[in-house]
Amino acid sequence: MRSFVQDLEDYVDQKLSSLDLLKEPAIGSVDRSEIVRRLKIALKNELEASEIAALWMPTTLETEVKLALARQVGDEAKHYRLIEQHLEYMGVDLRDFNPGADGYGPMFQLLAGFQTTVERIGAAQFTRESLALKKNEQFIEFCEAAGDHATAALYREHIQPDEQWHVQLGRTVLEKYANTPELQLQARRAVEAVLDLAIKIQNKQLKEMRVSHAPGC
Ligand SMILES: [Fe+2]
Ligand SMILES: [Fe+2]
Repeated sequence: MRSFVQDLEDYVDQKLSSLDLLKEPAIGSVDRSEIVRRLKIALKNELEASEIAALWMPTTLETEVKLALARQVGDEAKHYRLIEQHLEYMGVDLRDFNPGADGYGPMFQLLAGFQTTVERIGAAQFTRESLALKKNEQFIEFCEAAGDHATAALYREHIQPDEQWHVQLGRTVLEKYANTPELQLQARRAVEAVLDLAIKIQNKQLKEMRVSHAPGC
């Protein structure tokens, strides 16, 4: 019999593959400024991903989950620094760049409202990190098509392996703790809320900024 987590994973995969429909039709000629613009969006995403994990640490009672959150805080901060260094190496001046200038984004605000471990981990690690993995894959393709192999390599070699670990953490925690129908329902609702918001954000970004796959967290 398939487990609750396997079914939930299928549900997330199926929703995420529908996001492919929103891919930009053809990656024609892309100038470097477009990659820079997306990397700046990535900086904000990494910062918020680090901060949400930090926010949850004190109120997470399960020691192994608390420690996993601690690792994630560090991973996302490391991603921030790697991307920042990479932008500097590309010659981008970040002195006036403030990733927190517009306040917290809507995904951070949604996540910050979850109170239980299964909701939090279901929403952030299990779902949002899966979305990040996928967005990053699309971004790698985008960079390769634009001939920017260095940015593609940064994501493929240094960022994606950690994102994979974040998603795996989501699975492990749900398998262990989402063990009653009530908790499974809580987790499922949190997953749905994140997916709904992710689709809204993607549509908005596409319309207003002509960006459908900015890298994630
Ligand atoms: Fe992550
Ligand atoms: Fe990250």
